[in-house]
Amino acid sequence: MPASPTFRDAGAPSPRAVVAIDGPSGAGKSTVARQLAQQLGFAFLDTGAMYRAITLCFLRRGCAPADCAGEPDRGQARMRAALADAKLELPAGRVLLNGQDVTAEIRTQEVEAQVSAVSALPFVRAAMGDLQRQVASKGPIVAEGRDMGSVVFPDARWKIYLDAAPAERARRRCQDFATKGRVVSEADVLAEIVQRDRLDSARADAPLVRAPDAVYIDSTGLPAEAVMARLLALVRGETRAT
Ligand code: DC
Repeated sequence: MPASPTFRDAGAPSPRAVVAIDGPSGAGKSTVARQLAQQLGFAFLDTGAMYRAITLCFLRRGCAPADCAGEPDRGQARMRAALADAKLELPAGRVLLNGQDVTAEIRTQEVEAQVSAVSALPFVRAAMGDLQRQVASKGPIVAEGRDMGSVVFPDARWKIYLDAAPAERARRRCQDFATKGRVVSEADVLAEIVQRDRLDSARADAPLVRAPDAVYIDSTGLPAEAVMARLLALVRGETRAT
């Protein structure tokens, strides 16, 4: 699958010049990872956005997991074909699928409902992992997701596992929706978060786990600035994450 990710060139390429930030949905990873990348002059890689874009691609081709429930083999062949044709580009802060800007569309409810099933597919994970390592081979990155430190970049120089209590994650997500003019029930969002945690942690391939050498940060009750300060101190202090 061709890809042309953009990144800010911030020094000599190194496979280990990676800040790997993992954690559950809504823990605030994207906000801090994006800011950290800016502060450090590293590229930012939102790997959840990549899984969302591939989910959108399958939805458009009518071969998302829910569309293919009755014919798994044929469904998988169609997904593999769609994946092979997909061109994913990640210019700063945006996601392009086959040349079209899908940055907003990958956040819709339709994508949300299918992305856990898509991200559980080993052939999708293999393709995304290759693409993620390809980005990292070009220069330093801050990569956020679920398996950055545990699977894709086991030799990342810095590993962080960012967590927060489910209720707090639901509250933050509702605030986020509110800024976009969407009113949603906190109870519904909490139920969805709990369900997504369950699916992401229970899948066989690259489940959401804390890498043993990742620094654990619980951001419950912590403003994003405080989390940022801890991350910057960790990276700038050249502390090996243990
Ligand atoms: O972080 P997010 O909500 O945008 O992630 C969307 C989905 O993709 C979520 O269900 C978990 C999955 N994901 C994954 O399996 N591995 C990653 N590295 C990133 C996201």
